[in-house]
Amino acid sequence: MKIIFASQNLGKVKEVKAIFNNSHFEIISLYDLGNKIDIEETGLTFSENAWLKAKAVYDIYNEPTLADDSGLMIEQLDGRPGVISARYSGENCTFKDNNVKVINELSKFPEPHKAKFVSTAVYYDGKNRIESVGELHGVIIKEEKGTNGFGYDPIFIPDGFEQTVGELELDLKNEISHRAKSFEKLKKILLEKFC
Ligand code: IMP
Repeated sequence: MKIIFASQNLGKVKEVKAIFNNSHFEIISLYDLGNKIDIEETGLTFSENAWLKAKAVYDIYNEPTLADDSGLMIEQLDGRPGVISARYSGENCTFKDNNVKVINELSKFPEPHKAKFVSTAVYYDGKNRIESVGELHGVIIKEEKGTNGFGYDPIFIPDGFEQTVGELELDLKNEISHRAKSFEKLKKILLEKFC
């Protein structure tokens, strides 16, 4: 069964393809389809934004669609960057710009800087609407470390680890990440429902 993954973020696409590898489902991303659609994330929650993406892409292709909205929530910053994680330091900013902004903002707070990554994953096929949430807890550090992954990975050390996610291999990230948790739960529900 083919499912379109409503994302052009290559980091996410790699992760989600790996999660669904060797399952009943073949994941085709917007990137694979050469579709550069820009879906406005106007929701106030990860859930609202994930639904906006899934619905927009389902309306174009009329095929079962997966989407996720995710981000970083930092305790001392009252949950920011939250739903604006991707554009925390402005439109067209880089991952590095965002990391620098977070490090600067946290410099006035004592360590540890507790944080969590959150992912809300959704499936929509015009009839069934399924949602699941995954979280990864950890701390933010003062400098970027590692070049794997994307986004805030180089400044985030998961609880129980000594390395940042940017220093972990993708296979390991895929065992522990917020997205692994939300999409594994979703995969299980889809397997029970459709297989
Ligand atoms: P989205 O594509 O709208 O879900 O935005 C997600 C943003 O949250 C990304 O651009 C990153 O800034 C951040 N983010 C989400 N998941 C991760 C992750 O696994 N590692 C690092 N940053 C992430």
